[in-house]
Amino acid sequence: MTHELSNPVIKTLLNHLRETKTDALRFRHIVHELARLLAYEALKSESLEEQMITTWQGEQSFGFIKEEDLIFVSILRAGLPMIESVTALFPKASSGFLAMKRDEKTHQSVLYYDRIPKCKGKTVIIVDPMVATGGSLCDALSVIKAKSPKKIISLNLIGSPEGIAVVEQKHPDIEMYIAQVDEKLNGNMFIYPGLGDAGDRSYNTPE
Ligand code: PRP
Repeated sequence: MTHELSNPVIKTLLNHLRETKTDALRFRHIVHELARLLAYEALKSESLEEQMITTWQGEQSFGFIKEEDLIFVSILRAGLPMIESVTALFPKASSGFLAMKRDEKTHQSVLYYDRIPKCKGKTVIIVDPMVATGGSLCDALSVIKAKSPKKIISLNLIGSPEGIAVVEQKHPDIEMYIAQVDEKLNGNMFIYPGLGDAGDRSYNTPE
């Protein structure tokens, strides 16, 4: 199921990403913020586990998310600023990496690196800013599903209705939290109006 966030803070931050004057440093900074806001929303129903801690009043029990059961998976390279931000919230969570590149002629995603920890019984949270055709996310979901996680969540900044429909059709069991669903996929398979290529914008590599 897809959850598009309606919070005006999120929309404002996202729209700053569309501005070409937003340089790579500010771009990554906004991506950090948005990734966290998406994580808060995606984990709002997570149960809390009681843990005994030492406080200024002595030993007391308080609720914490079981962060050892979370695995964040970044799709390189544009997912890197997102994973940096969300893993800072959960230092005991594990991280995994999938490297994918869209072939510029066929627009198909090609997997060229896969380093994901054991997922059995864990909640896997994929981070990738863009869902254009949906091909990269669908491929990532297939790789991760083969590792039998308990649940899969996808955090994305911007997507096309076409790409999201593909993901929903092929993977109806995942929960996608996205900051903005844009108007359409254009003829070059880019999100319109979109924000360009998030990887290029983050790392100053204009095509
Ligand atoms: C972008 C983006 C997604 C993918 C989305 O990555 O980060 O991974 O494209 O497109 P799709 O939905 O059509 O598959 P890109 O291939 O540009 O690589 P990059 O992260 O290195 O910039």
